This record gives sequence, C-alpha cells and structure tokens, in this order.
Amino acid sequence: MTDAHTLIDTHREKFLEELKDYLSIPSISTLSEHNADTQRAAAWTAAQLRAAGMTRVEIMPTPKHPVVYAEWLGAPGKPTVLIYGHYDVQPAELEAGWLSDPFKPEVREDNLYARGASDDKGQVYVNIKAVQMLMQANGTLPLNVKFLIEGEEEIGSPNLDPFITANKELLRADVVVVSDTAIQSPDQPSIVYGLRGLVYLELEVRGPKQDLHSGGFGGTVHNPAQALCEIIAALHHPDGSVAVDGFYDKVRPIDEKERTAMAKTDVSDAEWKRLTGAPQSWGEAQYTLRERVGARPTLEVNGIWGGFTGEGSKTVLPAKATAKISCRLVPDQDPYEIEALIRAQVAKLAPPTITWEVRALNHGHCALVPIDSLAMECAVAAYERGFGARPLFLREGGSIPVVATFAQTYQVPVLLVGYGLPDDGAHGPNEKFNLECLYRGIHTAAALLEELGKRSPDSLRVL
Ligand code: BES
Ligand code: MN
Ligand code: MN
Repeated sequence: MTDAHTLIDTHREKFLEELKDYLSIPSISTLSEHNADTQRAAAWTAAQLRAAGMTRVEIMPTPKHPVVYAEWLGAPGKPTVLIYGHYDVQPAELEAGWLSDPFKPEVREDNLYARGASDDKGQVYVNIKAVQMLMQANGTLPLNVKFLIEGEEEIGSPNLDPFITANKELLRADVVVVSDTAIQSPDQPSIVYGLRGLVYLELEVRGPKQDLHSGGFGGTVHNPAQALCEIIAALHHPDGSVAVDGFYDKVRPIDEKERTAMAKTDVSDAEWKRLTGAPQSWGEAQYTLRERVGARPTLEVNGIWGGFTGEGSKTVLPAKATAKISCRLVPDQDPYEIEALIRAQVAKLAPPTITWEVRALNHGHCALVPIDSLAMECAVAAYERGFGARPLFLREGGSIPVVATFAQTYQVPVLLVGYGLPDDGAHGPNEKFNLECLYRGIHTAAALLEELGKRSPDSLRVL
C-alpha cells in the first residue's frame, strides 16, 4: 500500500493544474456582478470535496454567498476536526500592476500567480488534497472530518455567525483548523496564535447643498474635504498613537514574558522596507514592529475622496467628502464599543460649519488562542513533518473574525495552520502561492490529521 505522503509527491503536477482551474474563477465576493462566479467557486469546492471522499457535501445558501459544508464521519470514537477556509477573493484589476491576468493563473519561477492563490483558495485546496490523499492511500481517514468553506470572508463574513448559530450541532468539532494565514518562509513555518479584530466605518462630511464655484465661495464656506482632513488628522497624536478618548482603556498590556518571546520574531527595519517599499517605518516608537502589528490597535484611512479627481483642473468647492476608516483591535477591545468611541470623538472634533455621518460597515472580534494545548502540539508535529522545521509562534495583524466565534461557540482549540508567505501579495497585485508551500502544505495538512487522529476527542478539546 502506498502511503499518503508518497501519493502527495507523485501528484504534484495534477495539483498544480487543478489549483489553476480553481483560481481562474473570479469569485470576488464584494462585487455583485460576480455572483455567478462565487456560485461557480462554491460548486467547484463542493465537487472537489466529493472527489476527496466526503460522504455528505452541501452547498448551503445564506442571504448572500453560499457556505460549502462537507463531512466524513466514518471514524466513530475518533476526534472530529472542522476545517475552515474561504473560496471568495478580493477584487483584482490588471491595471493595478499585475504582470499577468489575475484570473489566468501563471507559474513564474517557484510561484503560482493569481488572485486568491494564497488568500485563500490555495490553502483551501491544500486541505482538500490532504484529505483526498489520505483517503486514497488508506481507504479511510484517521479521524472524522468536517469542512466549512465560506464565500464572504473578504467582506467581513456578514452571514457566517448566524449560520454557525443555526447549525451549531452540524458544525460541532473537538478541534478547529483554520488555514488562512502565512508562515515566515518555506524553511521557517510559524503558527499564528493571535489575530486582531476590526471595526470598519465610513465618515461622510457635508457642507454646502451642492458643489460650488471655488472662486465665488472659497474662503466663506468651510470646505468639506478640508474639514474631513482636519478631523482625520486629529485622530492621531504626533507619536503615532490613536487620539480617540478611551481607545486604549481596554487594551491588554503585553507582559514581559510575551515581549521577550515576540522579540525573537521581530522584523528588522530593512526587512520591513523590503516588504512594504515605504521609505521608513512608522508608528508607536516604544513598541517593536512585531508588537505594533500583532498586539497594538490602530486606526487607518483606507480611502478618502470628494470633489474633483478627474484629469486636469476644475475649480470647485465640493459639497461633501468621505473617508473609509477602520481600526485593528486587540484584546480586550470590543468593536462595537470602539465604534461608539469614534462617533463620540468625531462629535467632539466636528466644527459647526459642517454636518457629518458615521456609517458602520462591519465588526469583527480579535482572537488569542492558547499555545500550550495538546492540539497545538499536533500542529507543531505536523509542520515538522511537512516543512522539516519547528514552527515559531506569532501574533498577526490581520483579522479572521470567525476564529473568535469558533472559540466562543465550541470552547475548543482553534489552530491557525496557514501556508501563505508574508510577501504573497494578498489583496495586492501579483498575488502568488509558493509551490513549495503548496506541496509542503499538503504534507503538513495530512500529517496534522494523522496526528490529531492519534489522540482522544476529550484530550484534544482541552484548552
Ligand atoms: N487571510 C486574511 C486574514 C489575515 C491576513 C490573517 C494577514 C493573517 C495575516 C483574510 O482573508 C482577510 O483579509 N481578512 C480581512 C478581514 C476583514 C474583511 C473582516 C482583513 O484582515 O482585512
Ligand atoms: Mn483569507
Ligand atoms: Mn483576505
């Protein structure tokens, strides 16, 4: 009998071709003109899960994009794992600097380039193939497996919490595996144990009833674009900290033990420059870059617009200006409380010369998972098998709000077992998935199921 890991090695070309197929579906969740494509991506995911040997596979509707659920429960007495990922992707336009069409996957050197390659179709695919190879090799799986692959992660998973509440027993598991993060390098795997939360707002400032001639009225009417900038500028202190009253009240300080651990995985200024291309790093100077990204909250302007932005010049005093503002949150900040604090701060800052409105777009809780569980030991062993190195433990700056939902709903370990790389270009042009990460990832995902299958359900649930 050929073992699963041997099978994985002999299927490399097949994997690459199949993944290219998946990546050519533009399942952009935020653009409704792509609704048929998200449906197609859901169907593709479901078909693959059937091919992998899952005995029940369902495309379950939500008010927006469907959830793909699958299960194989043929190992009574063994633990049950729930594997989470997302088949939706961020928008991508060729003009944004892509060297090849974002939805015509292309291999260049050791990487597969396409939107969603790393975030998150590549990682979903890794888990499906791990299961399929185990099934093909052994005719069975070492434990019970459930999949929850959603299509709304990139828009804040608006329908996922209600879906989990409504299907609490269906989705119940002894351990949850989330594959939607990055490791340090193909030779240095890492496990994320902290993710930041998020609150996303839109701030609109209005002045005159309509656009005005800036010669006829400039200097007599408070320009909304200027007023918006004044408000935004006042939301930070000169030292880079956020100037919203009460913003830091619930921020859990980083204790000395964790600071020492985080120092070992800090990033140099030079590496940060390489990753970002920015002339210099910025932020709270008393915290390291790793601490700033992993354990400190932020307030960011994602976009700002108003007035004339076309070619050439047009002298105009705009009637309104808008900004999209989001905060990354850390324990124990609550996204709804932070929204209220920002509203209060804007109310204090807004001059009587304008009117304003804050609209909330989404909220997500942060997550911090224990690193000393038995389940975590399985993840460590799996990376050692797949990548040949002991993983580091890291806190990441991104958000996967469902992690907090899983942890709260089931009170079981959630393992953030990812296969991307920091320079994969997620959400940006030329997103890629490293081929070594793809193949080593499948080995790791298979090894993780083997490891988890050796333990008792009760012992795995311990946090
Ligand atoms: N895979 C990312 C989350 C992520 C990014 C984890 C970087 C670790 C490091 C996920 O797809 C994502 O982009 N999430 C959004 C969440 C938001 C839309 C609620 C994010 O972080 O902006
Ligand atoms: Mn993702
Ligand atoms: Mn993403």
